[in-house]
Amino acid sequence: MATVQESLQNVMNWVDERLPVTKTYEKHMSKYYAPKNFNFWYIFGVLSVVVLVLQLVTGIWLTMNYIPAGDRAFASVEFIMRDVEFGWMLRYMHSTGASAFFVVVYMHMFRGLMYGSYKKPRELIWILGMLIYVALMAEGFFGYLLPWGNMSYWGAQVIVSLVGAIPFWGEELAVWVRGDFNMSEVALNRFFALHVVLVPLALIVLVFLHILALHEVGSNNPDGIDVKANVDEEGKPLDSVPFHPYYTIGHDLPAIVIFLFVFCAVMFFYPDGGGYLIEHPNYEPADPLKTPELIAPVWYYTPFYSMLRACTFPLFGMTAKFWGLVVMAGAIAIPFVLPWLDRSPVKSIRYKGLGSKVFLTLFVISFFILGYLGTVHPTPMKTALAQLCTGIYFAYFLLMPWYTSVEKTKPVPERVPE
Ligand code: HEM
Repeated sequence: MATVQESLQNVMNWVDERLPVTKTYEKHMSKYYAPKNFNFWYIFGVLSVVVLVLQLVTGIWLTMNYIPAGDRAFASVEFIMRDVEFGWMLRYMHSTGASAFFVVVYMHMFRGLMYGSYKKPRELIWILGMLIYVALMAEGFFGYLLPWGNMSYWGAQVIVSLVGAIPFWGEELAVWVRGDFNMSEVALNRFFALHVVLVPLALIVLVFLHILALHEVGSNNPDGIDVKANVDEEGKPLDSVPFHPYYTIGHDLPAIVIFLFVFCAVMFFYPDGGGYLIEHPNYEPADPLKTPELIAPVWYYTPFYSMLRACTFPLFGMTAKFWGLVVMAGAIAIPFVLPWLDRSPVKSIRYKGLGSKVFLTLFVISFFILGYLGTVHPTPMKTALAQLCTGIYFAYFLLMPWYTSVEKTKPVPERVPE
């Protein structure tokens, strides 16, 4: 008689002959060789997956009680908060999750910038990542309208009205986007459809392709060493270890536990983040007759919002608002071509020259300053600072072909240092 183990193996063999389960598991987990020098910065990819799942699951449950109607949306969120069992927790998990998503994704992107993970042969991983980032921004924007609070309303009003700055067709385009002359239930309904169906689907597909592309070429590492150049007689990279169990158990699991502790601390004790995670005007229902004192987007958009506001002068017959839109769109678009801007012979910042280090540092500082400036009322001084930081943001990218080709780099070791 066959033992339990043999029976299970037989079932698995039966499945494998019809669907490559074991082969896929081996290719992407137990026989996916990852460089052995991963560090702290390599946990944010997996944390992004964790937050994506968290958002999808909590989103499904929220949708069970949320009503996308102009006169009921706000009340349905209050109902979730007060009357649905653990509804408050679902809602706060989802709202905290939105910010957590951007925290981990920004850290993940910064890691890419530091270690040159966008460079050949990983250009497509980076481009898919940028598409994910844009989809994530859209997802956050559509979702923010749904509670139909006063900041939801006015935030969306400001951003959609930007479309009106496009010459010739702007105004008509803005009406087309809103489906009405003002923000109304029509926009609420379409934003709902986009937020719960289209964009999440796009995100899932993009993340799937992102990881597939990564596993095709293999992971980079903090030294930017090509680990595939040193293999043993069986073809296994000498400086790599199987992703499972080494990274799953030894690296990612502890990171997920620590992340969830921090996440729960914020969610339970500081869910509105002092107005940074849920803005205070959003505790009031949308009111077209009452503009909030300061209209500011949530923190993860504020660097770009600052750039938009930094454009204060009309040029070539176009309004300042139009140029603001161009600069903001340009700031989001330019990282797409990063793989072709970096001319350095080395990948990692560890071996790059002074130019790369200075520019990356200035870039990060500017991004933070822009982020802060986007949350406060503009003054002439603050606008000048925002203009300077916008200049640095663009200089980081546009001057990259120059500073990465003239700077002196350090030799990259052939093998991963012990
Ligand atoms: C939902 C959002 C995202 C998810 C779930 C995700 C997931 C992952 C995972 C699991 C990895 C492998 C583990 C790691 O290297 O940390 C990875 C690698 C990578 N991701 Fe993402 N990612 C996301 C967004 C982005 C964005 C926005 C970018 C950049 C624009 C990006 C760029 C990269 C790059 C360049 C790598 C290769 C890194 C290396 O090998 O050093 N990802 N991603």
